[in-house]
Amino acid sequence: MPRIILVAGARPNFMKVKPVLDALESRGASVVLVHTGQHYDAAMNDVFFTDLGLRPPDRHLGTGSGSHATQTARVMTAFEPLVDELKPDAVVVVGDVTSTLACSLVAAKAGVPVAHVEAGLRSRDWSMPEEVNRVVTDRLSDLLFAPSPDGVENLRAEGYHDDQIHLAGNVMIDTLYANLDRALASDVLHRHGLTPGSYALATLHRPANVDDPAMLAGLLEALSAVAAELPVVLPVHPRTAARLPQTSGLRLIPPAGYLDFIALQASARLVLTDSGGIQEETTALGVPCLTLRDSTERPITVTEGTNTLVGRDPARIIATARRVLSDPPLKRTPALWDGHAGDRIAEVLLRFLAAPERLRPTDARGVTV
Ligand code: UD1
Repeated sequence: MPRIILVAGARPNFMKVKPVLDALESRGASVVLVHTGQHYDAAMNDVFFTDLGLRPPDRHLGTGSGSHATQTARVMTAFEPLVDELKPDAVVVVGDVTSTLACSLVAAKAGVPVAHVEAGLRSRDWSMPEEVNRVVTDRLSDLLFAPSPDGVENLRAEGYHDDQIHLAGNVMIDTLYANLDRALASDVLHRHGLTPGSYALATLHRPANVDDPAMLAGLLEALSAVAAELPVVLPVHPRTAARLPQTSGLRLIPPAGYLDFIALQASARLVLTDSGGIQEETTALGVPCLTLRDSTERPITVTEGTNTLVGRDPARIIATARRVLSDPPLKRTPALWDGHAGDRIAEVLLRFLAAPERLRPTDARGVTV
């Protein structure tokens, strides 16, 4: 059976690798789980392994934080000898973080097929580091697993071959459904004195929102105004904690683990966020979400989910929050967000590895991007 390296580096990767790992191993593949070490704090890392039942990584690269270039270089320098040593049949990367890009670049140059889980998403905002990571990772990948039809359309428009593109569904939602009952049994609401359906949950961590003090102040002002309507709970990411001024009306809590955070989302009346994955989880949970960004790489959560792309103007955020609070919540979920994306990915990848010449593009991988 093939040997496959599966890469995880940062918090949003952990819930995406788990269903792929399980689906590959249940079909007999030998999987080496590699943690790059991009995220390392207990709150950003350990709790997710425990909550998800993810086994400790088989290899840990211990790269840590740094500038984009430093982090990319450290991951590449540590990953290259591992690829040389293990000689994998494929490298699977997920999402859009720095580790995703760094490992696909190493694998592509080593001549190892790359599979990208969550391919084809585009915000078309080139100032987002994740957008650069997405576009370049897709270009380096042999197999592109899109979570939704918009991802497939983006890849086709960029000239990728049809036999590279696979509509697989959303692995993050596989993990959500697999853990929902355990999450709903959490006592996190009780610990924070919250009543189901009567609080808002907010998250902020994107550099574009939290690095500029004026932008952050405007967003906090909007959250404070929402807090006049109902309690607003804000788990704080390390990037944000250092920059957070005193703000009235918000209930700051430490970063939540996976199960607690799903429980907090599931019972919220409203979620306000600049995260990518939370746009998807709220859609699957049928909880209204306001995305505090000017663009989204996940438009399906707007057209077929519960998300509203509201931007960063405080007056608009407050007005939209008031409107959403007065409307009944909507429940609709995109096709193939059904808990089986990991299985579909494993089937395609193992078929590809069994007959690479049949499924692999005969000429250059991908075309002009
Ligand atoms: C990364 C991802 C982003 C994801 C986010 C949250 C990229 C380009 N961005 O951004 O897509 O939404 O993670 O999961 O990869 N830090 C700690 N402890 C940690 C990790 C980081 O304190 O365990 C601090 C460090 O000071 C570090 C800073 O947070 O410099 C930023 O971490 P980094 O991984 O570089 O990027 P994120 O902003 O977390």
